[in-house]
Amino acid sequence: MVTLLLLTHPDLAVSRANRALFAGLNALPGLEVAELYALYPNEQINVAVERERLLRAGRLVLQFPLYWYSTPPLLKRWQDAVLTPLFYQEPDIAALTAGLPVLAATTTGGPSASYQPDGTAGTIEALFAPLKATARKCGWLWQEPFALHDVRNLDDAALARAGDSYRSVILSAPMMKPRFKTAV
Ligand SMILES: Cc1cc2nc3c(=O)[nH]c(=O)nc-3n(C[C@H](O)[C@H](O)[C@H](O)COP(=O)(O)O)c2cc1C
Repeated sequence: MVTLLLLTHPDLAVSRANRALFAGLNALPGLEVAELYALYPNEQINVAVERERLLRAGRLVLQFPLYWYSTPPLLKRWQDAVLTPLFYQEPDIAALTAGLPVLAATTTGGPSASYQPDGTAGTIEALFAPLKATARKCGWLWQEPFALHDVRNLDDAALARAGDSYRSVILSAPMMKPRFKTAV
């Protein structure tokens, strides 16, 4: 089955942290990558293509740098464009994704102390409440998010270790059993 990675970074060429995490997934079996900003530089998402990807997925990973305590805008746009017609107009097809494990993975400039329950930002789990609610509304299995903090102060070796941890977290997330599609 497919691990679908929606990699949403506006400029991966200048990224350190997200590139390092992605490098950790090298040769991960069944990995399908959709790098949204590269695919859709004008932000016009191909809904049919993205919906097919979603229907192929056995687990879904949303990877992005944290921007103002949220996702970059194109990932929100993906939700609006792909999930809205699927779940509100074609619930029978949407139901084929029921039980899909979904893992949000992010990188932050802020230190880990800011993301503790008593930190200035609060926990990543709490910040991701809209993503979690979306996952639950879709009947998906929300996983504990993966977060890499204080990325500007991590050297290359630390980033490489984070890539290895990220890979392990993804591989230990559940995978949906193969299912048949009735229509597309
Ligand atoms: C527009 C913007 C908003 C940001 N907002 C946050 C934020 O809310 N919290 C935080 O810890 N870091 C924030 N940062 C820092 C990024 O999360 C950090 O640069 C990114 O995770 C680094 O990943 P990269 O090396 O893959 O680009 C922001 C950066 C930008 C450019």
